[in-house]
Amino acid sequence: MKITIVGTGYVGLVTGTCFAESGNQVTCVDVDEEKVNKLRNGIITIYEPGLEKLFQRNLRDKRLHFTTSLADGIDDSEVVFLALPTPPGANGEADLSYVLQVAEQLGKLLKKYTVVVAKSTVPVGTCAKVKETIARQTSVEFDVVSNPEFLREGVAVEDFMKPDRVVIGTDSERARKIMYELYAPFVRQGNPILFMDIPSAELTKYAANAFLAMKISFMNEIAILCEKLGANVDMVRRGIGSDTRIGKRFLFPGIGYGGSCFPKDVQALVQSARGVGYDFKILQAVMEVNERQKTYLIPSILKYFNGDIRGKRFALWGLAFKPNTDDIREAPSLYMIRELLAHGATIRAFDPEAIQNVRKQLGDQIEYANDQYHCLENADGLIIATEWNEFRLPDFERMRALLRQKVIFDGRNLFELEKMQDEGFHYISIGRKP
Ligand code: UGA
Repeated sequence: MKITIVGTGYVGLVTGTCFAESGNQVTCVDVDEEKVNKLRNGIITIYEPGLEKLFQRNLRDKRLHFTTSLADGIDDSEVVFLALPTPPGANGEADLSYVLQVAEQLGKLLKKYTVVVAKSTVPVGTCAKVKETIARQTSVEFDVVSNPEFLREGVAVEDFMKPDRVVIGTDSERARKIMYELYAPFVRQGNPILFMDIPSAELTKYAANAFLAMKISFMNEIAILCEKLGANVDMVRRGIGSDTRIGKRFLFPGIGYGGSCFPKDVQALVQSARGVGYDFKILQAVMEVNERQKTYLIPSILKYFNGDIRGKRFALWGLAFKPNTDDIREAPSLYMIRELLAHGATIRAFDPEAIQNVRKQLGDQIEYANDQYHCLENADGLIIATEWNEFRLPDFERMRALLRQKVIFDGRNLFELEKMQDEGFHYISIGRKP
């Protein structure tokens, strides 16, 4: 099939590459000329495990193409995916201007029946708006389909290749057949392609992310209670997770959720509810808990240093909002850095992938380490903000030798309490009494 992806961010590039891998002819369109040039020349613009290999192969075999021209991009295409940003607007509602601008241009360019697919996370009613916008510009037949994306950064290729489910909202039999054909190679193990009406598909995406965010905030509150009541959140997590109705996954407490999706989507759903006169109380609380959680370790750090960290030097492991990505959008690490600097501390940080992105944002407000041990030199303590695997089994002897004070503030519960005691560290984590 010949398909077009408009927008080459995380979702667009992964979607485009994976559809090329299943044998389609894919053209990716982006307004960013520099990005398009890089991609054309085989330089990948995001870090995503497993993507580079597929990207290079499909580029070489000429199934994957890049252009800045929407007209060239959609020429002869049967399906056009919109994978455009929907940033939070002034009042927290998703800003649809990119999506609608492209819809307008598309309307002027369509030459034959096309399925236009909304892949970006968009509020209920957006597909209808896209349809209206295109229809104003053309008399050519087309359908608009909602096909929300559930991939996680860091495992995006795997998630795309073997999705738990594919959700497709459509009111057209013709579009349904085309979408089925496109996705059939990815669900051969039997996972479902769920066809539904368009508003339900649009809402499914928000409901999924909001539910997952709720799980995290819930566990973060349980963790606080554990500390206060003398329980251990690891035990409670295992205890509840074994109930299949609750499930083991996504119950890890920490310093809050970040990234480009959960914070934005939870907020947008609350706004969307407000727009129809409904106060979504649980989600309001989910957001409040997450705000507090991002700097949850700061009072413990201050307490350890008797309320004064002026001139103290901290090592910070992890900057990305989660492991296996260089993405720092809404990363809890950045909120912690801001607080620590405001209290007069200095910071040397290390992250396996995200340093460049943080440097662009913070410049020389903090120092950047070459590796995780360089980070520790003469530090008054270590703070852990992201659970990269390489932090899980460090050389504790070397750490003791480098750190001025043997104290670790762990926002991701990487280590066992007993182990830390044996290793001689003062160890403060989340939901577990030191
Ligand atoms: C999330 C969803 O998981 C995807 O299904 C969805 O497609 C995507 O948003 C999106 O809307 O595009 P992602 O933002 O890549 O994916 O990251 P997750 O792996 O879900 O993690 C989100 C945040 O939750 C991270 O900050 C992570 O540290 C935190 N988290 C996750 C916890 O604090 N505890 C957990 O147990 C799990």
